[in-house]
Amino acid sequence: MNKGIAIYPGSFDPPTNGHLDLIQRGAKIFEELVVAILRNSEKSPMFSVAERAEMLRQLTADLSNVRIDTFDGLMVEYAKSIGATCVLRGIRAISDYEYELQMALMNRKLEPTLETVFMMPADKYSYVSSRLVREVAQAGGPVKGLVPEVVEQKLREKLDPAYKLQEPTLIEVPKRRKRKA
Ligand code: PNS
Repeated sequence: MNKGIAIYPGSFDPPTNGHLDLIQRGAKIFEELVVAILRNSEKSPMFSVAERAEMLRQLTADLSNVRIDTFDGLMVEYAKSIGATCVLRGIRAISDYEYELQMALMNRKLEPTLETVFMMPADKYSYVSSRLVREVAQAGGPVKGLVPEVVEQKLREKLDPAYKLQEPTLIEVPKRRKRKA
């Protein structure tokens, strides 16, 4: 296990199974992992920072070396203020790489002692993002399996009555009878 504190910064609006998968992996390799929610995001969020923090607290309650915090301003400054030496970020697909590379190099320029570590979430979550979860949920689609149940419930509360969380219904197609010759 890596000595020291690592931070996993992000928007987490809402937390997905991909985030949780990464937190679980990070918790195994770092002594302490701080999941840090950005407070001053310019986007108009679906969930308040307090709601996101509460969901993440519930989701990580069984991980004793994980704690949830929020931050404002530069991530490197926040990392320094809590004595973190590593930043954990997830890369799902090649499309994430360019943005993540830019961010990691900018952060290195700002604070050369802070290392960024990339981890891959389970491949079954490689297409899952908070943005797509919001989009599907807002349009009334099912997000089962993409987000933890706690989050599914919060989405249901937020979007009800428009939001339906049923499994997609499979329409039974009657078998075609063989034609008589
Ligand atoms: O989940 P996201 O939205 O991809 O997370 C992006 C986040 C919050 C990690 C990034 O925007 C960030 O660190 N913002 C804080 C401001 C900052 O330090 N910007 C310079 C980063 S190069």
